[in-house]
Amino acid sequence: MSLQNTFNVLLIGAGEINFGSVEGPWNHTKRLEQKLGSRLRVVGLVDLDQTKARAVIDEKKALIKDSYDSTEVFESIASAAEGLKGARLPQLAILGIPPQFRGQSSSGRDAELALIKAFPSISLFCEKPVTTGPIERIAEAQSVRDSLGKHAGKGVVGVGYMLRYLKACADIKDILRENNLTVMATNARYTMAYEYAVKLGWWDKSQSQGPIIEQATHFADLSRFFGGEVDLKSVSARTVEHDTSAGSLGKKGFDEEKIDAANRIPRITAAVWQYESGAVGTLMHSVALHDATYDTEIEIIADGYRLKLVDPYNAPVLYIRRPGLAGEEVRRYDQDDPFYSEISAMIDAVESGSSDGLLSTFDDALRTYEFTWAIRKAGEAVKP
Ligand SMILES: NC(=O)c1ccc[n+]([C@@H]2O[C@H](COP(=O)([O-])OP(=O)(O)OC[C@H]3O[C@@H](n4cnc5c(N)ncnc54)[C@H](O)[C@@H]3O)[C@@H](O)[C@H]2O)c1
Repeated sequence: MSLQNTFNVLLIGAGEINFGSVEGPWNHTKRLEQKLGSRLRVVGLVDLDQTKARAVIDEKKALIKDSYDSTEVFESIASAAEGLKGARLPQLAILGIPPQFRGQSSSGRDAELALIKAFPSISLFCEKPVTTGPIERIAEAQSVRDSLGKHAGKGVVGVGYMLRYLKACADIKDILRENNLTVMATNARYTMAYEYAVKLGWWDKSQSQGPIIEQATHFADLSRFFGGEVDLKSVSARTVEHDTSAGSLGKKGFDEEKIDAANRIPRITAAVWQYESGAVGTLMHSVALHDATYDTEIEIIADGYRLKLVDPYNAPVLYIRRPGLAGEEVRRYDQDDPFYSEISAMIDAVESGSSDGLLSTFDDALRTYEFTWAIRKAGEAVKP
């Protein structure tokens, strides 16, 4: 393999999204290895936790020497900039650190800006959500979007809303297009199993910003993917809060008393909005199920059609009602791997210099972030 054929990647974050987890299928390095094979060169890994970073790289090195033999571990993007020059310049950075350290312009929260400054022709793949922080900081995220817009032509930027890459979602888009359909409504349900969710920060709005921004973001994003732009002024929501009998949860595995009452998350958020097209969307997020299995689905309604995507995270099934069909058509997608599809699209975009094949851009993903904040604020505005 000639040197020109190698593909240099800089990983930001030594955690679960980049290196895998027992909790789910995410693992970007695995998909990079699948896509690039012996072409892959992980030139660097940035993580504050140097011990953890060295340990994950040592483990990889033992298995896949060519790709990880020369990986250097850095504690900051600035030190990676010092260490990676010439043939070791990264073509793509994968940003897998928590969102509060990305997507903004102030020092320490500005990973994207630091990367494009350090490596002027780098491409970026940012995890979702594009940022998190108090609502006042959305303007900072908008300025990052503008800077990344000016970076176009030097590098491409994609965001990890991987559900957009499901084959089932491509089929829904095809059915809408082929039948010249206008979406009338979207209806999403995200029912989480909370028994084993024991990280205190997740239950604390001052840290995670709450379950719509942190968790239901994938379904807010899918709603926009099918329904189009949301009229943010139309968003209304009702919540079931922690201090009502309807919000009492019996299987919590942590001490919620440690969280300030004002920052405890709602158990149910039910939101309704109007798309700019005139269509209507709904989302209900619930913190309610026991054990570990979540229950998620989204329906798209159009004249004569109901397209219902069930369990998109684990075992996607699409149920199609269409004119003239008794009952419904059922399509199963057991072997589909949207994490592979999004990484594959990202590598192709870097190599071609065109972002046409990317299904989630920074600009688009920022609108999902703004939408999730609109839902949270609407719920808080009418909190009983
Ligand atoms: N698409 C999905 O299904 C999916 C799944 C998991 C995670 N994610 C996203 O990936 C991101 C990371 O999540 P994770 O589960 O890998 O987290 P994690 O806690 O497992 O890992 C984060 C790593 O980042 C490091 N870190 C934190 N702040 C840093 C900083 N300022 N500079 C350098 N390193 C820093 C930590 O030491 C840690 O090793 C989140 O945005 C999350 O939403 C997406």
